[in-house]
Amino acid sequence: MHPQVDIAPSILAANFARLGDDIQAVERAGVRMIHVDVMDGHFVPNISIGVPVVASLRKATRLLLDVHLMIENPERYVEPFAKAGADTLLIHQEATAHLDRVVTSVREHGCRAGVAINPATPVSTLEDILYKVDQVLVMSVNPGFGGQEFLLRSIEKIRHLHHLRTREGYSYRIEVDGGVSPENTAELVRAGAEILVAGTTVFHTPNPAEAVQRLQQIAMEAMVQKV
Ligand code: DX5
Ligand code: ZN
Repeated sequence: MHPQVDIAPSILAANFARLGDDIQAVERAGVRMIHVDVMDGHFVPNISIGVPVVASLRKATRLLLDVHLMIENPERYVEPFAKAGADTLLIHQEATAHLDRVVTSVREHGCRAGVAINPATPVSTLEDILYKVDQVLVMSVNPGFGGQEFLLRSIEKIRHLHHLRTREGYSYRIEVDGGVSPENTAELVRAGAEILVAGTTVFHTPNPAEAVQRLQQIAMEAMVQKV
């Protein structure tokens, strides 16, 4: 289906004063996408970046922009982020009473539509939307901050999503976000994760390109074992 595993560096852990350089570094390592964390200080207890940064990123790189909306009222911001150049918009199940409407709107605005769930939200809450989404994001930390410890239970959710996709013939890609490291990468890939978001592991190192390549290598080896 999607044989390739993507490492998606999360720029939340990058140096915002040298964002262009940090992105070029991971681009050289061969990534296809970067993960952009949008936080509003309401849905999560932190504030990060918004529409103007996505618009600047769009001008600075051809990499796919995987935009994670950790915001209340996501329906209000679909159009601005789509216009700014987001490729994928990830909407939290917990952030709206009208997930179906928002997902449809994301599609209508020409973006790939993804849904995200917090650690305490079960996969079953997505049952009636899975057939129409392009991506499902399993949070493996409580959203809001980088550098937190990976929550083990998320692996079971990835397996569940993988199983459901095969059983029902769905086509979404499975993404995991939070605490991804060289230690858990192989297990995540074997469970069915195809997009691994990594912030601290990539950017809080002297050589981000090398950190990405290490994760890519582990992921590739795990993929070979899986097939
Ligand atoms: C957390 C964000 C993550 C974060 C991951 O709320 O959604 O994307 O940047 O950071 P690490 O990889 O450091 O856990
Ligand atoms: Zn994220």
